[in-house]
Amino acid sequence: MNATLTLTRPDDWHVHLRDGEGLRAVVTDTARQFARAIVMPNLTPPVTTVAQAEAYRDRILAVLPAASTFTPLMTLYLTEAMLPLEIERASRSGLIHAVKYYPAGVTTHSEAGVRDLAHCSEALRAMEDLGVPLLIHGEVNDPAVDIFDRERVFIERHLIPLVQRYPQLKVVLEHITTASAVKFVLTADDNVAATVTPHHLLYNRNALFQGGIRPHYYCLPILKREAHRQALIRAVTSGNPKFFLGTDSAPHARSTKENACGCAGIYSAHAALELYAEAFEGAGALGKLEGFASHFGADFYGLPRNTQSVTLVRESWTAPATQPFGPETLVPLRAGEAIAWRLQAPI
Ligand code: DOR
Ligand code: ZN
Repeated sequence: MNATLTLTRPDDWHVHLRDGEGLRAVVTDTARQFARAIVMPNLTPPVTTVAQAEAYRDRILAVLPAASTFTPLMTLYLTEAMLPLEIERASRSGLIHAVKYYPAGVTTHSEAGVRDLAHCSEALRAMEDLGVPLLIHGEVNDPAVDIFDRERVFIERHLIPLVQRYPQLKVVLEHITTASAVKFVLTADDNVAATVTPHHLLYNRNALFQGGIRPHYYCLPILKREAHRQALIRAVTSGNPKFFLGTDSAPHARSTKENACGCAGIYSAHAALELYAEAFEGAGALGKLEGFASHFGADFYGLPRNTQSVTLVRESWTAPATQPFGPETLVPLRAGEAIAWRLQAPI
C-alpha cells in the first residue's frame, strides 16, 4: 500500500489567477487543491478599488464549476494615489483581505506600482490602524543592483525602515528567496510573516541554465543559489508559524515565455500541494507540512482554519507537457516529468 498523508484542506496565500480566458483555464487547478486563495491584483489595469475587486471576484466565481466551494480572497494594488478612504472601504468590505505593494517596474504588471513609499504614508497608516495586511514584492528595481541581490537590498533599504515606521502594520514578505529574508522575518515582530513558493523550495538557480537557458524556471524574485534554498527549507520545516504557503503560481502563455524576452512566472497550481510534499519529504519533515500549508496562513490573516481535509498518496505521476491557456498553451512546472505525490480526488 502506498503511503498517504491527510491534511486539513490547505489555502494558497499568493496566487495569480489572471482574467478572461486565462482565468477560466487555470482557476480550477487552484480550486481543486485549496479552499481559499489570496488573489493577486496585478491585472491590466490593476485592481485598485473595492468596486474593481468585487467585479473581479464575481468573474472568478462565474467560471468556477458549480459544485466548487473555493473562496477567492481579494486584494488591492497599492498605488501612490491610494486614498485612506479606499483602505477603510476595503477593511469594511469583508471582501478585501490585503493590499499588495509592488515597487514600480520590479516585475510583471508593476508599472503602476509605488515609486516612493513615502507617498503612501496615509494609506499605510490606515492599514496599520485597521489591521489590513501589506503584501510585499520585496525587490529593488535598481539596475545597479545585481538581480540576485535585489531581495536583500530591498530588505536593507526599504523593509527595515518600513517596519520601524509602522510597527503594528501586518506585513507579509511574499515569495522569499534568500537567507537574508528568513533572518529578517525571524527577527521581526509577530506581525511580520512570509510566504514561500514550491519552486524556491525545490530548485536553485542552476535550474535556469541546465544544459541551456530554461525560460520556464524564470520567475521574480529569481531562483537563488543552493545555500539560500536550504535556508528556506529550514525555515518552512521548523514549524515556525511565520512561514506559510503561497505558490505565486503565475501562468504565462508558452509563446511569451519561450521568447527572446521571456516573461517572469512559474505555473505550479496544477500540482502545488504535491510539489510542496516533495520538498518537505526531501527534508524528512512531512509532519511539518500541515501547519505550513493549512494552519499558519489562516491564523495570520485572522481567518478560521478549514475544517475539510485532503489526502496525498505517495504515487508517482507525470505532469502534462502543456495545458490549455485560453487560445494558447502554458508549460507547467515539472512538465512531462514525474511528481512523487498525488492529491486524491475528493470523494
Ligand atoms: O515571476 C513572477 N510572476 N513574479 C511576479 O512578481 C509576478 C508574476 C506574474 O504576475 O507573472
Ligand atoms: Zn506573485
